[in-house]
Amino acid sequence: MTEQAEGKRVLSGMRPTGKLHLGHFHGALKNWARLQDGYECYYFVADWHALTTDYGDTGLFGNNVIDMVIDWLATGIDPARSSIFLQSALPEHAELHLLLSMTTPLSWLERVPSYKEQQNRLEGKSLDTYGFLGYPLLQAADILIYDAAFVPVGGDQAAHVELTREVARRFNHLHGAPVLTEPRALHTPVTKLPGLDGQKMSKSYNNSITLREDPGQVEKKIRTMPTDPARIRRSDPGDPAKCPVWQFHELYSDDETRQWVREGCTSAGIGCIDCKKPVIESVLAELEPIRKAAQPYVDNPGEVRDIILEGNEKARQTAGATMDRVRDAMGLSRW
Ligand code: TRP
Ligand code: SF4
Repeated sequence: MTEQAEGKRVLSGMRPTGKLHLGHFHGALKNWARLQDGYECYYFVADWHALTTDYGDTGLFGNNVIDMVIDWLATGIDPARSSIFLQSALPEHAELHLLLSMTTPLSWLERVPSYKEQQNRLEGKSLDTYGFLGYPLLQAADILIYDAAFVPVGGDQAAHVELTREVARRFNHLHGAPVLTEPRALHTPVTKLPGLDGQKMSKSYNNSITLREDPGQVEKKIRTMPTDPARIRRSDPGDPAKCPVWQFHELYSDDETRQWVREGCTSAGIGCIDCKKPVIESVLAELEPIRKAAQPYVDNPGEVRDIILEGNEKARQTAGATMDRVRDAMGLSRW
């Protein structure tokens, strides 16, 4: 095992969905930034992964990659400490995926929970493709190629890390040497922030606030957020448990403010507009430094490109070393 593999490297990826929103910030990015203090971090744009489901919409890739990486940089992902790179710039991922596919039983992939779930969820799209079935194995290759010790995951990705461990174990067993490092899922506390309508925040549900949203727009979106439907008139009492605004208070407000909301809502002592004011202020205060930090990159996207190119080269060093070990273990000669 390489020295870096001694429990210190973290790897994670995100599909290039374009501008990120508050859900990404609280659910992943804040944590990614924090992890840089204790680990060597590899963060990559999973553009091949996006193709496993969105194989039809390829036109937006370029802008989406840059827009997303701007948001990474603006929320504190630091290219001096972390490797930021693009999956498709490293064909080594595809080679490892291919080689691992030789020994991975189909049943391991078919039983990954997200396989059936996503097929059901994205009903309009044909997902009976080879690429979609193989996507968790591609993810395994993404992780194993960097000897990652830890993968920060939300609930739905834990099964993929488990699969990665099994794939590594089988490979090492078959070839009689500890070539690949078994990663561990890193369950770190993340705060869940719902969308403006209380559902999961998602660009496609039209219920999100992007990290670089114009302040006036942010205010308007929160002002028009739905509240407890029982509060038709100002004099009707409400129940915070039935209101998405309350979930924002749970994330952003101190005890005193929350107490004020609970009392004011249930007694109709405050109106919903009053209640939303502190939320608007907190969100604006949170987003302002992000928008400011993003601006130089927005003005000069070439710099973002250079950061990615540099990250690609750093990643290539590590990936290349792993591939040499893998090819040797499999008896593939070097030419
Ligand atoms: N599968 C992840 C997603 O869709 C993205 C991803 C790809 C990833 N490869 C990874 C995450 C490796 C962690 C590690 O969100
Ligand atoms: Fe929601 Fe606040 Fe209105 Fe109660 S007062 S319904 S918590 S916005």
